[in-house]
Amino acid sequence: MTTVIKNGTVVTADLTYKADVSVDGGKIAEIGPDLKGDKELDATGCYVMPGGIDPHTHLEMPFMGTYSSDDFESGTRAGLAGGTTMIVDFALPNQGESLLDALKRWDNKSARANCDYSFHMAVTWWGEQVFEDMKTVVQERGINTFKHFLAYKGALMVNDDELFASFSRLAELGATPMVHAENGDVVAELSARLLAEGNTGPEAHAYSRPSQVEGEATNRAIMIADMAGVPLYVVHVSCEEAHEAIRRARMQGKRVWGEPLIQHLTLDESEYFNKDWDHAARRVMSPPFRNKKHQDSLWAGLASGSLSVVATDHCAFTTEQKRFGAGDFTRIPNGTGGLEDRMPMLWTHGVGTGRLTMNEFVAVTSTNIAKILNCYPTKGAILVGADADIVVWDPEKEKTIAAGDQQSAIDYNVFEGHHVKGLPRFTLTRGYVAIHDGEIRTREGYGKFVAREPNAPVNKALSQWKALTAPRPVIRRGIPATGV
Ligand code: URP
Ligand code: ZN
Ligand code: ZN
Ligand code: ZN
Repeated sequence: MTTVIKNGTVVTADLTYKADVSVDGGKIAEIGPDLKGDKELDATGCYVMPGGIDPHTHLEMPFMGTYSSDDFESGTRAGLAGGTTMIVDFALPNQGESLLDALKRWDNKSARANCDYSFHMAVTWWGEQVFEDMKTVVQERGINTFKHFLAYKGALMVNDDELFASFSRLAELGATPMVHAENGDVVAELSARLLAEGNTGPEAHAYSRPSQVEGEATNRAIMIADMAGVPLYVVHVSCEEAHEAIRRARMQGKRVWGEPLIQHLTLDESEYFNKDWDHAARRVMSPPFRNKKHQDSLWAGLASGSLSVVATDHCAFTTEQKRFGAGDFTRIPNGTGGLEDRMPMLWTHGVGTGRLTMNEFVAVTSTNIAKILNCYPTKGAILVGADADIVVWDPEKEKTIAAGDQQSAIDYNVFEGHHVKGLPRFTLTRGYVAIHDGEIRTREGYGKFVAREPNAPVNKALSQWKALTAPRPVIRRGIPATGV
């Protein structure tokens, strides 16, 4: 059974051209003029693009005394409705828990996914077992990315000695560390001070995490990665200071990638000063939303290539859950949603304004991250043989975002009232048409785990360079290099 996407314009990270695309057995079978198939999808007036990849989600995640409310079913349904065909979620071990046991829990949860998915492993504590498990995770479980939290002191945070040990181990294994870069010690201190001064509302969350805490931690992580000889992926980059550190490192030839979120690009800090407590608390996330200066920096980074990927950090809590923090902002569960809205919001505010080209849009929503994660071109490409994860994008389709119409399980949407122009007409997940002209036809459990090999080209090149420039003893005549 062949499906042909007819009369569209193919848009990839580097090309724009008119062609039909035929799909067979879940893969792209042919690209060219006048293709025939058993079934046709009309893409007249539309762009045929690689489906979005959101590399940063937290579905059904235990966090801050509760669980995030979107699970792998509702989360991936929301993603598909907005043109995202693959997500990567973070498997989070408890303190002292083996990485492999944590993965079992994530395997169970993800069995309900409507689209393909992969995992990053979080390093939430350090010890011999984590060191050993890492090898199995990389070599047998197909996971080559490991996240470290420099924030959330007393919970998920790791210290610099642990960070260096973990990064060094990942360098050996050909895997890539990721960081949540905020200085957790300073955040804890500022939070305590704010509370003592009677600053208990959600606005104090933003005051407790100024851009300096992010800039400092980003720069520190970059330097530690450089010393360990490993590339680095910085998640949810929200400010100029962090972007500056990444930009500088890249200019120096360091292998560092930065990931802004659609929320930070399009929503600003004024949200926290809303008189309605619920409104402000619903937008509490770390790092917090920033001002226009920071937003302009992020947009410039996407256009210039110093920032590489736009994600969501989808971690959705209901209003009821957010109210756990009434009277104490440090207890408001941190996180916001965005899976359904990332692509339409980025298109509207990026391509629709001229800040991004269509090809840059594809690069930052799909192709770049597929390369970084080492699953390109199976994912992130419109090429013969690639998985048929495709979005047929209608640039004329419009809507006003409203919680009442969304797929997410929560009772509000942080983008409520934003008007978007540019939405999926069809979303195909490995060839299956899950979104059909506004109709949701997702299939629970259809999604498969995407295993990702270590030693991606950048990891290989960097370890070759580090080996070449590693410290060596100077051989001196008459004096042995080792002690006597
Ligand atoms: O506030 C956030 N970002 N919540 C999700 C967990 C994380 O830090 O990524
Ligand atoms: Zn984080
Ligand atoms: Zn996150
Ligand atoms: Zn808007």
